[in-house]
Amino acid sequence: MNSNENHSQAAENNKGPILEVLKKYIHGEKRLLEIGTGTAQHAIYFTKHFGKLQWVTSDLARNHLPIATLLKKEKIQNLHGPEKLEIGVDDFPKGSFDFVFTANTLHIMSWKENKTLFKLLGKRLREGSLVFFYGPFKYNGEFTSTSNSEFDAQLKEQNISSGIRNFEDVKKNMIDYGFKLINDHEMPANNRLIVFAREAFRKR
Ligand SMILES: C[S@@+](CC[C@H](N)C(=O)[O-])C[C@H]1O[C@@H](n2cnc3c(N)ncnc32)[C@H](O)[C@@H]1O
Repeated sequence: MNSNENHSQAAENNKGPILEVLKKYIHGEKRLLEIGTGTAQHAIYFTKHFGKLQWVTSDLARNHLPIATLLKKEKIQNLHGPEKLEIGVDDFPKGSFDFVFTANTLHIMSWKENKTLFKLLGKRLREGSLVFFYGPFKYNGEFTSTSNSEFDAQLKEQNISSGIRNFEDVKKNMIDYGFKLINDHEMPANNRLIVFAREAFRKR
């Protein structure tokens, strides 16, 4: 991946295909929380297409400066933040969210942080709210490509707690916290865009 701290070539490549999927689900005057905004390339591109959507960016405090600088430069009315949100440390920002979008974060966070995220989603989202997880996943413990297997090894070299997550584990936990699987979209470069909806009941 050709990227530096403030620019990701992968985000440039995947933003178009992700937008095409999001368009199927995102309509009207709603509010979205993005977790792990990173370079903010997704947030800037998507908010230009969803004019009525209020998009709230968030990330670890130490990663705020490039996001804040870019948002100030772009001056997009419906783009907000960055809010401080470190899963495992913080609760979601105040207010209600109709959508949560997070790209390439589940494999960076530890599995414990993943489970904290699923629990927070169950606690904070209302019936009908949608969650979008974008990134690479394993299925029944198997990588979907050699490149994903190599990527997983690189991630673990950098941090032993990181690693590509198993789709079935994510699905089981999300169901436990009150969600149902809506769709699992196949995306370019061996990625997926998985969509869950909050159901009416609160199991925990
Ligand atoms: C690989 S980058 C992805 C950035 C961007 N979403 C993208 O797809 O280009 C992972 C992001 O997750 C954030 N992150 C890591 N651990 C996190 C945590 N515990 N809670 C929230 N965000 C976290 C990092 O700061 C970083 O912005």
